[in-house]
Amino acid sequence: MKWKRTHTCGDLRSSDIGKKAVLMGWVEKRRDHGGLIFIDLRDRYGITQIRIDPACKVYEDAKKLRSEYVAGFQGRVERRPDNMENKNLSTGEVELVAEDIDLMSIAQTPPFQISGKISSSEDLRLKYRYLDLRNRNMQRNLMIRHQTAQLVRNYFSENGFIEIETPFLMKSTPEGARDFLVPSRVWNGRFYALPQSPQTYKQLLMMSGFDRYFQIVRCFRDEDLRADRQPEFTQIDVEMSFIDEEDIFAIVERLVQKIFTEIIGVQLNLPFQRLSYEEAMMNYGSDKPDLRFGAKIHNLSALAKESDFQIFRQTIESGGLVAGICAKGCAAYSRKQIDSLTEQAKSFGAKGLVAIKIKDSDWESTLNKYFGDAQRQAIIGELAASDGDLILIVADQQDIVLDTLGQLRLALAREENWVPSDRYEFTWIVDFPLFEYSKEEQRYVARHHPFTSPNLADLDKLQAHPQDVHARAYDLVLNGSEIAGGSIRISDEKIQSKMFQVLGISHQEAHDKFGYLLEALTYGTPPHGGIAFGFDRLVMVLTDSSSIREVIAFPKTASAMSLMDGAPAQVSERQLQELGLQFVQELHKPSSENAE
Ligand code: AMO
Repeated sequence: MKWKRTHTCGDLRSSDIGKKAVLMGWVEKRRDHGGLIFIDLRDRYGITQIRIDPACKVYEDAKKLRSEYVAGFQGRVERRPDNMENKNLSTGEVELVAEDIDLMSIAQTPPFQISGKISSSEDLRLKYRYLDLRNRNMQRNLMIRHQTAQLVRNYFSENGFIEIETPFLMKSTPEGARDFLVPSRVWNGRFYALPQSPQTYKQLLMMSGFDRYFQIVRCFRDEDLRADRQPEFTQIDVEMSFIDEEDIFAIVERLVQKIFTEIIGVQLNLPFQRLSYEEAMMNYGSDKPDLRFGAKIHNLSALAKESDFQIFRQTIESGGLVAGICAKGCAAYSRKQIDSLTEQAKSFGAKGLVAIKIKDSDWESTLNKYFGDAQRQAIIGELAASDGDLILIVADQQDIVLDTLGQLRLALAREENWVPSDRYEFTWIVDFPLFEYSKEEQRYVARHHPFTSPNLADLDKLQAHPQDVHARAYDLVLNGSEIAGGSIRISDEKIQSKMFQVLGISHQEAHDKFGYLLEALTYGTPPHGGIAFGFDRLVMVLTDSSSIREVIAFPKTASAMSLMDGAPAQVSERQLQELGLQFVQELHKPSSENAE
């Protein structure tokens, strides 16, 4: 470097006119205009126009500059001619008239254009992620991520929490996903597991008396990936002692309010609303309902039971549910559009879909004859439908009906643009069932995790009627995405042991896996509870991103690969030997196009 940088590419203003300056950055664009050369010089702070006049001693050198070359320019700040100002740039009133250049690095032609909206495939962007990260949008996303992390750290510190790091090489914890395993070289045949979350450690820290803990921490889960899931992701992890649910809600709500005000200038009203799990499922068919639009699910069983429509009657007689939603303004849907909705309903497990158009205050449907005038009007009334609306009804087992209508609701909202872009609808979901029955494993599994406390009022049902026990668990849902989840924990060893029993984990297995935690519970345990935010998901909302990969510097693809460095990769025979491992057989390879 010939000089020291005096300003960034986002600094210079008209108040700097006449000053000397040295800027450094990447060449975004070079334009040759009537003898003058203009360079748009870019760094993470902005873009400044550099002008190189024909009389300049480095004029010939400037001609050789290409996109993405790294260079420094020394010169004098001048006002741009009147009609040449660029209102879109913070530096748009001025330009740096170069006197000298320091070419620091040349660049190959990048595989895609870096400035503006990138139109290349995501795979190419991920392969050259270091180039993709030069894009303004990605830089903005990572900046917002950083600012949010800083705010979170300050907030918790100011409220008496301390950040404590917990191990990455640990014993397997049960968060419900598959573990990533790390073979031990020192102890051949043994494995560490990467934490699915620091759950057991943060509880142990409460037993150690740390009282208010937080950590911004990486978690690892080997699960199927989706637009909002990564195999390694970040949590804002929190645990508190001598508290109940209300304390957790209060500390979290104030944090979220502060983040929204300070990071994106959105004012949120507190407290957030609360919905029981049951209400969320019955009204929205989801435990993470998007409350930015209506189209609520209505139970039509009582009305459908009175009709002559056999499918409805039989469904109700066999213990099922008939329910519907009102798609506002969708009565003009064509046969093809309704067929497509029916196909979607079938893909969610429903046997079919009844679609009724509302016209002249009545049904326009082949089913009219099975329903009396009063029944048709009652269903219109229940769904608050009016002319021009489309009623969609599903009859089936309750879980299939709710899931199908919940999914159709979301699909219609996307299709019909029902979702206002600048609304933020938060809700706590509370009163979850403690268990769910896993058909695959033929046993009850913990809905949240096995350290979650049952509702004290349900304790006596724990063994005989586990399906009726509610949990002291809560999720925070924002615009249909679960951004945080937590619970009050079991702080009594006997209840914890009972919990393992219900989960079908033998006494021996419980002691092998969690003996340290069960023992710790017997040495004086404060009542405690906590929560963890999906930090990446929160940043997705703050940056209005549609994929989690847009807010992570170096993410994995949907098939869990890093296209840039090629992980996961094969290792040498020697490395395997050291670990005492032998590669027996290639069990499977992902079929995805991402696997190279
Ligand atoms: P939970 O498993 O609900 O709870 O996780 C907390 C939050 O983490 C986010 N999340 C993910 N984000 C991206 N990719 C993933 N694969 C992924 N999995 C989860 C979600 C979720 O709400 N130990 C408990 C917390 C507690 O009880 O305190 C836990 O980890 O936003």
